[in-house]
Amino acid sequence: MPTILERYQKAFPKDQELAQQANKVLPDGITSDGRYMEPFPIYIKESNGSKKWGVSGQEFIDYRGGNGALLLGHNPPEIVAAVTKQLQLGTHYSACHPLEIEWANLIQELIPSAEKVRFTNSGTEANLLAIRLARTYTGKNKILRFLGHYHGWQDSVILGAGEGENTPSGIPSYIASQTIACPPNDLDIVEKYLREDPDIACIILEPTGGCSGVVPITGQFLAQLRELTLHYGVVLIFDEIITGFRVHPGGAQTYHQITPDLTTLAKVVAGGLPGGAVAGRQEILNLISKKVQKKTLKSTKVSHLGTFNANPVSASAGIAMLTAIKTRKPHKHINELANYFRQQLNQIIDDNHLDWVVYGEFSCLKFLIGHGLKGLKTADFNPHTLDYRKLMYRGNPYLRQYLRLGLLLNGIDISLSSVIMAAHSTKDIDQTVTAFSQTIAWLKTENLI
Ligand SMILES: Cc1ncc(COP(=O)(O)O)c(C=O)c1O
Repeated sequence: MPTILERYQKAFPKDQELAQQANKVLPDGITSDGRYMEPFPIYIKESNGSKKWGVSGQEFIDYRGGNGALLLGHNPPEIVAAVTKQLQLGTHYSACHPLEIEWANLIQELIPSAEKVRFTNSGTEANLLAIRLARTYTGKNKILRFLGHYHGWQDSVILGAGEGENTPSGIPSYIASQTIACPPNDLDIVEKYLREDPDIACIILEPTGGCSGVVPITGQFLAQLRELTLHYGVVLIFDEIITGFRVHPGGAQTYHQITPDLTTLAKVVAGGLPGGAVAGRQEILNLISKKVQKKTLKSTKVSHLGTFNANPVSASAGIAMLTAIKTRKPHKHINELANYFRQQLNQIIDDNHLDWVVYGEFSCLKFLIGHGLKGLKTADFNPHTLDYRKLMYRGNPYLRQYLRLGLLLNGIDISLSSVIMAAHSTKDIDQTVTAFSQTIAWLKTENLI
């Protein structure tokens, strides 16, 4: 019987060939660290609805959902129509255009704290701008962030994006020293920092927990953070780049009824195309405004430029996406389907007596492959009681890799942090559950579990 690795190498010959070509021109053959895969990644040539098709001819049910951007699925007709129309009307006017107003109005309609909006090209850029605004507004320098929360790859927030507090390469120590990376969900530590360090400008976090809920957060924690930040004059930034429009049409802040000072958006907001935004309190966003600065005779204008900010193509996709979200129809479907999916996968995990679990809230799926809690049934798993480092570790890397390869071989593209899209059906889920069972059987044959 061939091993999973042997099967993978045999099943994806064209992918392997492309990977060899890619390695010659791209470091590791990839274009984003998140796409790194051993022995080589798969290459996709087409996608539609809940599916993707690879260069070696396989069909995959996709749960990666454009890294969370594709809330509706691949190529939803309303977005395709809007983008196609816009491509014929022009991709860049080097000028203002009506779509950016419509786009901002929709954001404002869905997210009540969005008194003003500024568009960027990505989530990384949105957080960069939000932090710059917070520093200018408060006149302070430091950022407090939580270990494991991801806010993009720019210098001041990449530190602490993983589990450790080590400074990543290429970040000057004088920049790293301005970032405080706290363990997640520990209010006492946050308060201690705020009490002892008067130079903290902002707290930034993912409002359902790092990696959209791998280490989940409670609404109570958010409420307490809100109180603390108000007390200490610190700007509270909700990074809703994944949660925005996904956990609720009004984001996690509407779900939990907590109003941050600033919200950063990307992914869903741009309808599956590149784009992002900072939204929030007028008083803070107006630090970008020349007019307001002139009127108040202040010299604190925050610079923000960008060739592709609010480009008409992304705007057209964003408008189509947010218009669909306004109906609230997608959310009921994706949340119910995600619940069903988690239950089905957990049933198989229990039947096989594995110390794995699939958890997560809303339409987010989190896999923990080896929690080490002997005899624990998946129904009794509570991520709030587990050490955050264990949740972030996600389990045995070797096993995780073979699980991923096995699932790809069985026509499923899913990672440890995945999402349900509106295009998914119960049939997709049932097919995936069968693939999951098959992969577990292979892992057993290889004595990997
Ligand atoms: C919560 C969160 N913040 C920020 C980012 C960075 O966004 P981008 O990749 O658009 O720069 C991401 C991307 O995955 C994210 O998930």
